[in-house]
Amino acid sequence: MYISTLLTLFLLANAAPTQADMLGVGFLKRATKHAHKVAIKQSATLARDLRTTFASVLIQDATSPSMQNVYCVGSAGNVTIPSPVSNSTGPSNSGKPSGSGNGTSTGTTGNSTSASSPWKVVQSYSGQNFFNGWSFYTDADPTNGNVQYVDQSTASSNGLLEVNSQGHAVMRVETTPKVSNNRMSVRITTNETFTQGLVVMDSVHMPTGCATWPAFWTNGPNWPAGGEIDIVEGVNNYTNNQATIHTNPGCTVPSSLNMTGTSVGGTNCAAAETNNQGCGVRSNQGNSFGSTFNNNSGGVYAMLWTNAGVSVYFFPRGSVPSDITKGAPQPQGWGEPMADWPASGCNPSTFFYDHSAIFDTTLCGDWAGTAWSSTGVPGQSTSCAQQTGYSTCEAFVQNSGASFSEAYHPDWEVASVKIYQTQS
Ligand SMILES: *[C@@H]1O[C@H](CO)[C@@H](O)[C@H](O)[C@H]1NC(C)=O
Ligand SMILES: *[C@@H]1O[C@H](CO)[C@@H](O)[C@H](O)[C@H]1NC(C)=O
Ligand SMILES: *[C@@H]1O[C@H](CO)[C@@H](O)[C@H](O)[C@H]1NC(C)=O
Ligand SMILES: *[C@@H]1O[C@H](CO)[C@@H](O)[C@H](O)[C@H]1NC(C)=O
Ligand SMILES: *[C@@H]1O[C@H](CO)[C@@H](O)[C@H](O)[C@H]1NC(C)=O
Ligand SMILES: *[C@@H]1O[C@H](CO)[C@@H](O)[C@H](O)[C@H]1NC(C)=O
Ligand SMILES: *[C@@H]1O[C@H](CO)[C@@H](O)[C@H](O)[C@H]1NC(C)=O
Ligand SMILES: *[C@@H]1O[C@H](CO)[C@@H](O)[C@H](O)[C@H]1NC(C)=O
Repeated sequence: MYISTLLTLFLLANAAPTQADMLGVGFLKRATKHAHKVAIKQSATLARDLRTTFASVLIQDATSPSMQNVYCVGSAGNVTIPSPVSNSTGPSNSGKPSGSGNGTSTGTTGNSTSASSPWKVVQSYSGQNFFNGWSFYTDADPTNGNVQYVDQSTASSNGLLEVNSQGHAVMRVETTPKVSNNRMSVRITTNETFTQGLVVMDSVHMPTGCATWPAFWTNGPNWPAGGEIDIVEGVNNYTNNQATIHTNPGCTVPSSLNMTGTSVGGTNCAAAETNNQGCGVRSNQGNSFGSTFNNNSGGVYAMLWTNAGVSVYFFPRGSVPSDITKGAPQPQGWGEPMADWPASGCNPSTFFYDHSAIFDTTLCGDWAGTAWSSTGVPGQSTSCAQQTGYSTCEAFVQNSGASFSEAYHPDWEVASVKIYQTQS
């Protein structure tokens, strides 16, 4: 049922009236409420969230073999990357960390000198100054989650934001035992933007458990014109990451891809032509998300965006390539990516530009909430309704603050975010 609700919502927000009329279904009060929000605040962010919703709906609904295997997973092959454009003898951190101030390096200390990586750090966020260079989003959650995003000082004074003794940036959700409506949470966006590059995010922990919906993603302006790349995303007890792109019309994925993940959804990534489903890929690595990611002390996600296309890699802790820990990444040695959207179907210069990186954690809302009673996605063999005894996600969130403290750790704990570019 929620599928038609969300379709209605989407059409009201984005489609010509004739299309909305064509739907011809009565929709729920909730949909009406959401549609109102859509009408009063249509924005790139909102549109993004609707797309995420459709991607998730497709996953929830992807019970038929035909939907689960839209693509063949291609045979192993080489990842194309640009040729080195300099001999790069300087320390990789010598690039001015734009907008990050004087970040203190953590975690990935090691040898920062490389003669072979063309990649130079252009933005670096880590240590005591991690949060310098990010803007705190304080509008209502466009995904209709039970959170109120708060500014930096509110987050800090409520214990939702810190750099811990390991030098890791921590972003938390409020754990007050009972709330009447929303829990405070944090959503941050880099002030600086980038076009093409390599984003490397090292996290030791991410939010997990019923009601949670964390994401790390990049987004361009004038959605969907600037494109969106969801690097880390999932809900509830999921243990396998989903990476997704959302674009203007004209971006597709080929039928055969060299990647380790499994496509979910369609081959047309255009938001306007596909009800925003996007081109999603689910990781086959069982420690790529949620509790299993956390049990393994997390790992490193890398998003590579070059003329060859866009791809996402995941390296569990213990399997992070030394070139990454040394700050001299060499993607050509990383093997097949988890997700790949090659240039042959989607020109990465046309469909993506001026991206910011974003972290957020919402609760319930359009994905975690609608999937509350669902099972079947890796990690979710028992529904959250059954596990918690609450029939709705909202009731669980409002009444079970303790669930959001020690037990389920709805925290992002991030060692670093580094954005590299080749010299031009
Ligand atoms: C996958 O790799 C093979 C072998 O390297 C190559 O021929 C093919 O073009 C690649 N396919 C895609 C979609 O990149
Ligand atoms: C892949 O790369 C390796 C090492 O660079 C090379 O030997 C091999 O020929 C390449 N394969 C293809 C299909 O390009
Ligand atoms: C590497 O770059 C340095 C500084 O730009 C230059 O002096 C040196 O000749 C270069 N080495 C090679 C092998 O190109
Ligand atoms: C960088 O930050 C450290 C610690 O906050 C400080 O001691 C150091 O002087 C700073 N360096 C620069 C160049 O600002
Ligand atoms: C760093 O790399 C350089 C060049 O490969 C090497 O000479 C040096 O010993 C390395 N230093 C450390 C601390 O690994
Ligand atoms: C980032 O932007 C916010 C406003 O959105 C501003 O308050 C902050 O000072 C900026 N940070 C830097 C390092 O420019
Ligand atoms: C799923 O989430 C529930 C509620 O947050 C939690 O009690 C349970 O331990 C989680 N299951 C797993 C396997 O992590
Ligand atoms: C994580 O580790 C804990 C403690 O070892 C274990 O109880 C739990 O089942 C693990 N969760 C998953 C999802 O592997």
